[in-house]
Amino acid sequence: MTRPLQNRRILLVIGGGIAAYKALDLIRRLRERGAQVRPLLTKGAQEFVTPLAAAALAGERAHTDLFDRAEEADIGHIKLARDADAIVVAPATASLMARMATGDSSDLAATVLLATTLPILIAPAMNVRMWQHPATQRNLATLRGDGVHVVGPNDGAMAEAEFGPGRLAEPTEIADAVEAMLEQARPASGFGFLAGRDQTAEAASGPLAGPLASPLAGFLAGPLAGRRVLVTSGPTHEPIDPVRYLANRSSGRQGHAIAAAAAAAGATVTLVSGPVAIPDPPGVQVVAVETARAMLAAVEAALPADLAIFAAAVGDWRPAETRGSKIKKDGTAPAPLALVENPDILATIAGRPVGRPRLVVGFAAETDRVLDNARAKIARKGCDLIVANDVSPAGGVMGGTANTVHLVRRDGTVETWPTLDKDEVGRRLIRHFADLLDA
Ligand code: C5P
Repeated sequence: MTRPLQNRRILLVIGGGIAAYKALDLIRRLRERGAQVRPLLTKGAQEFVTPLAAAALAGERAHTDLFDRAEEADIGHIKLARDADAIVVAPATASLMARMATGDSSDLAATVLLATTLPILIAPAMNVRMWQHPATQRNLATLRGDGVHVVGPNDGAMAEAEFGPGRLAEPTEIADAVEAMLEQARPASGFGFLAGRDQTAEAASGPLAGPLASPLAGFLAGPLAGRRVLVTSGPTHEPIDPVRYLANRSSGRQGHAIAAAAAAAGATVTLVSGPVAIPDPPGVQVVAVETARAMLAAVEAALPADLAIFAAAVGDWRPAETRGSKIKKDGTAPAPLALVENPDILATIAGRPVGRPRLVVGFAAETDRVLDNARAKIARKGCDLIVANDVSPAGGVMGGTANTVHLVRRDGTVETWPTLDKDEVGRRLIRHFADLLDA
């Protein structure tokens, strides 16, 4: 079997951040998969890694300066912008993202990124507060809107002893995302890659030059272009009194990753989310709710949709009554907490006689007999597909960043995927659902 990156030419733009050292490992991972890598280092990147190290690992010269006379005669910036199958920016710093989003061309990396019509993947890495800053999130949304693909950043401990999203995605995740991007750019007609020298040269020099004027634009718009997608995510909070509530450990990571992947795939996405501590996915309309009943109302208001994915961990029960003031301890035994059942949002939407989304997907978070329970659930809920996962505490799925999922179909057949980062699970699920909608 040929490897997906076999003979693919990748221009790797290395930005100036502490994560630049990981770009060296990325060169090795891409080459292991058969790719040819041409490194381009920004001035900042050269503070962290040397062009010599990048060139040695790539087996190609590393490019650095905009006004390098020898370079302009040999391989100019326009040629660099065309002479590859894809461009990967890793680490994509806040500054590089800002330059890309505003069309700034003040150095070689920014010029190449502005002059290109190739598919671009960015792997952002920066301080968590810089990542969460509205300016960076705006730039990210702009870049996604321009058809730029994004991998990461991941959560974790940062160099500055802070914790949160901002870490560069792992080199293997970036390599997976390059494969996925090139796979997505491959036209269904089987003509091979459009992102070749000839077509891009034509587009780059024409009057409509620029990413969206590319012959790839239709493909970069994504497999869900023109579709409406609804996603639920996170836990629900069911109030007992003004200060107490019933909840669960859902972080919202998987549902949010699915919503982000759907937006990156070109869909118009509404994400109805319970209370979570993670940022809104860019390019997605987020409706924040607390209770299951509010979630159902928001979901109904967001219809119609082509695809609905119910990833929220909805509380099955809520207190039978919510007290208007804080319940006091008065030395006697506490009053028993009476519970009533919440509406089942998934079953309600899947059972709609009119206006049912064409593809309705449920989740099954189970701690035992995962597949049997998922098979029973698909029939009970009336959905088309169940994504089942084992949430036993030992697996660390609930609240964690990795997930092992099984796709359970209505006919009872099961497809089990390897353990993957939740972002990658999101991307793969979205690709799978897009194929089902197209079928
Ligand atoms: O019944 P259970 O909670 O295991 O079912 C899980 C699936 O049903 C998930 O897709 C979840 O989002 C959905 N669900 C729902 N409303 C509920 C309970 C679960 O939409 N009240």
